[in-house]
Amino acid sequence: MKRPLSPVELDPIERASQDELQALQLQRLRWSLQHAYDNVAHYRAAFDAHGVQPSDLKQLADLAKFPFTTKKELRDNYPFGMFAVPRERVMRIHASSGTTGKPTVVGYTAADIDHWSDLVARSIRAAGGRAGDLVHVAYGYGLFTGGLGAHYGAERLGCTVIPMSGGQTEKQVQLINDFKPDIIMVTPSYMQVIVEEMLRQGLDPKASSLKVGIFGAEPWTEAMRRDIEASANMDAVDIYGLSEVMGPGVASECVETKDGPVVWEDHFYPEIIDPESGAVLPDGEEGELVFTTLTKEALPVIRYRTRDLTRLLPPTARSMRRMGKIVGRSDDMLIIRGVNMFPTQIEEMVLQHGQLGAQYQIVVTREANLDAVEVRCELAPSAVGTVEPKAVGDALRERIKTMVGVTTTVSVGMPDSIERTLVGKARRVIDRRKE
Ligand code: DLL
Repeated sequence: MKRPLSPVELDPIERASQDELQALQLQRLRWSLQHAYDNVAHYRAAFDAHGVQPSDLKQLADLAKFPFTTKKELRDNYPFGMFAVPRERVMRIHASSGTTGKPTVVGYTAADIDHWSDLVARSIRAAGGRAGDLVHVAYGYGLFTGGLGAHYGAERLGCTVIPMSGGQTEKQVQLINDFKPDIIMVTPSYMQVIVEEMLRQGLDPKASSLKVGIFGAEPWTEAMRRDIEASANMDAVDIYGLSEVMGPGVASECVETKDGPVVWEDHFYPEIIDPESGAVLPDGEEGELVFTTLTKEALPVIRYRTRDLTRLLPPTARSMRRMGKIVGRSDDMLIIRGVNMFPTQIEEMVLQHGQLGAQYQIVVTREANLDAVEVRCELAPSAVGTVEPKAVGDALRERIKTMVGVTTTVSVGMPDSIERTLVGKARRVIDRRKE
């Protein structure tokens, strides 16, 4: 793409041997279990009830003996009951708004913020960013971890930061055009909205100054990567994270390989489990991603069930393992007349279809006790007037039937007919069965 990579100094651990990495993990894991047990009433009670003590961890695999933690425990101890340090030592609070009820509250000590900044700086560097780059942050600032997490990391790397936050798409485009940032950090769905706005303003997205996009906070596919890279002539790399574990930068992709986010395993120990039985699965098998923090002071999490479905893959560009692209969250999986379907499967097919735009929505209803799925898409601007929307829809419907095994109705509207998400995560699924 636009940028030749300059050689950089990596953190020594990014090049460490497996033995060195695992020795560090074991030492840190022991500390983290003890820290949680000594300072959080919930962990003490849960370990005791499970008949395990921090000292039972003799090797990394012994972690499987310890109980899981879920969002429920964080909610039950709302707001600060899971903190392992006195509130006065907590330097920052973030929170993620659940769809129902109370938000999940997370906290950071000064050392936690320091580690987080280092890891996001490491992530931006893995994406090809360097000191001196101009970074446009369009993740939301506020209780959401995206904006401030990206911001501190970019500053730590020595970049100049534009704290634009989400929304105000016209202004986003104006600032990109005037300030000429090298890097943008934003949700992939909002990047597509920014590209559309550039075109609307008569600007060529391929000619923009942006060389790298660091995209995350929502599932996105390889098809989406190709779409953004082609439409904006930039490298699109994947950054993963969740507030309960830290925020953005738990794992992040290397631009030279683009083969899935590298889990920053010196700070987070990953496991993949069978979501039904809870058994730990071998690397390579798909299941639910579980994290144990190794260094966090304010909010250590032990075996936190993310609900994200993926696989652990062997190290390539760094000493640490990678994760496959998130297939979806177990909560996002739609079960349609008994068939499992993820929005990402539909995304692949919509984006592969040359005559469709990149936006889509899935509406699920129940009619006469049967689930009905409508896939809403848009014609690509270039296809308007050249094809019959119904024919395009019929072709997509057939493809979904063949590939996923679900009968849908597909409606194809004009460009811009689907509502865009301007702030936060794209809402791809409207499930009216729950309303
Ligand atoms: O979304 C943190 C973040 C901000 C990550 C900016 C990357 C960039 P939460 O709001 O707590 O935190 O949501 C976490 O979002 O469990 C995944 O389901 C999803 N998610 C985050 N990154 C990715 C990604 C932030 N790269 C939840 N691919 C996670 C797929 C992602 N899903």
